[in-house]
Amino acid sequence: MSDTTETPQAATRTATPVMISRKPGAPSATAPSGSEGTRTACIRTFGCQMNVHDSDRMRRMILDAGYAEVQSYEEADLVILNTCYVRENAVDRVRGHLGELNRLRRLGRVKKVALTGCIGASDESTTLQRQYGIDLVLGTHNTYELAEFVGLPTMRETYTPDLPGTEGEHSAFVTIMTGCNYQCSYCIVPSVRGRMVCRPLESVVAEIEGLVESGTGYVTLLGQTVDAWRHDGKRFCDLLARVADVAPRVWFTTSHPSNMEDRTLRLIGEKDTIVKRLHLPVQSGSDRMLKVMHRGYKAERYRRKIEVFREAVPDGTLSTDIIVGHPGETEEDHEQTLKLVEDCAFDSAYIFKFSPRKGTEAAELGGAVPPGVVQRRFLEVLRAVEQNAYARNQRKVGSLEDVYIRHGSTEDGKAIGETWSGHAVHVRTECEPGKYVRARIDSAGPHVLYAGEPVA
Ligand code: 5AD
Ligand code: SF4
Repeated sequence: MSDTTETPQAATRTATPVMISRKPGAPSATAPSGSEGTRTACIRTFGCQMNVHDSDRMRRMILDAGYAEVQSYEEADLVILNTCYVRENAVDRVRGHLGELNRLRRLGRVKKVALTGCIGASDESTTLQRQYGIDLVLGTHNTYELAEFVGLPTMRETYTPDLPGTEGEHSAFVTIMTGCNYQCSYCIVPSVRGRMVCRPLESVVAEIEGLVESGTGYVTLLGQTVDAWRHDGKRFCDLLARVADVAPRVWFTTSHPSNMEDRTLRLIGEKDTIVKRLHLPVQSGSDRMLKVMHRGYKAERYRRKIEVFREAVPDGTLSTDIIVGHPGETEEDHEQTLKLVEDCAFDSAYIFKFSPRKGTEAAELGGAVPPGVVQRRFLEVLRAVEQNAYARNQRKVGSLEDVYIRHGSTEDGKAIGETWSGHAVHVRTECEPGKYVRARIDSAGPHVLYAGEPVA
């Protein structure tokens, strides 16, 4: 799952926003009176799509409570920082924001600060709350308590994330499972997001039917290990097949190689409505490291999955996550990763330098890799991925593509879209997000394709 705040991106986490809300727009008992002026709130989201989705839910609560949403801290009475805890630099960034918010508080601008998301669920939140005088700290399991804080009636917690996504928007995230049952050596997610909880198939399908009816054209199924979804004897492949019959365009993230079934890979090739893009984090190409990381598969098994994908989805794109410099990683392990990168010919990869997270097994391991070595390995993996991605993207030059517009054009007149093969495309069009244009690919870089004027 891609991080929404950094490049290369990362941070797969599940939402556990388990709450039942009133209908959006329903009158709020505590909406401010005209004489008080409208209260304002600003939500800042760090991390992955799960957090973006959680922020959507919190946005709904603050709007229900009568707040107006603003984009800058200076204009906000209430600031909500919805945070990521996957790597230490994510925490450093949030500290910077908390410092700035305290400065604004002293100037009498910002009145209340709430810290939510994965840092909120961690032990570190207590120190941060004390240090920065944060008014409200919520973890990922009790986001619903924000309702009371903003003056709404108390919400009821449930164990299915039944709160609908962003109805009426051209694209929507739909959480199908939360938490994670793996215990990867380096990963803080299981301790901040809890164990896996899967949502019933009918509830997922009903939500998507509602979204499609209200105009959503693109649905992304979310889960920390989305392909581990199972419920009432049904597995992820069954759910994906149902969703692909209901939604006009579907993608899912993030997957775990141990859960990825060949029939799911084949389904991606078979169903016209599924975007032909697979994100399958491998983390390392060395069997020794995969074992230390407790990933539960060997490099050869991963390679076999990729062979199935490439055969079933010849025009598809493949991305992955790789960690360099995990404790104990030798030069030989690193060579194995470079070899796997070459064999799998990734179209893109999110590459991370190992970041020790307190409470994880890897943080206690000896065999730290010196920073200079980590940096060199990082650049070597990056170069290998980019060279390959560039060569693969060149093959798309000259092809005519149906491009789904994700973000409308900016000042340079270019919109950002996505092909059915899952390539990102810059295209010169005024077309609104959610619509399709047909355009020919003129040129390509390692990360993106460039199209000319739409042909129709
Ligand atoms: N250090 C570096 N990278 C990490 N990731 C998760 N935890 C860490 C860590 N402690 C990466 C993994 C995961 C992605 C979301 O973030 O590659 O797939
Ligand atoms: Fe973290 Fe591993 Fe679970 Fe992914 S599968 S969320 S890396 S513990």
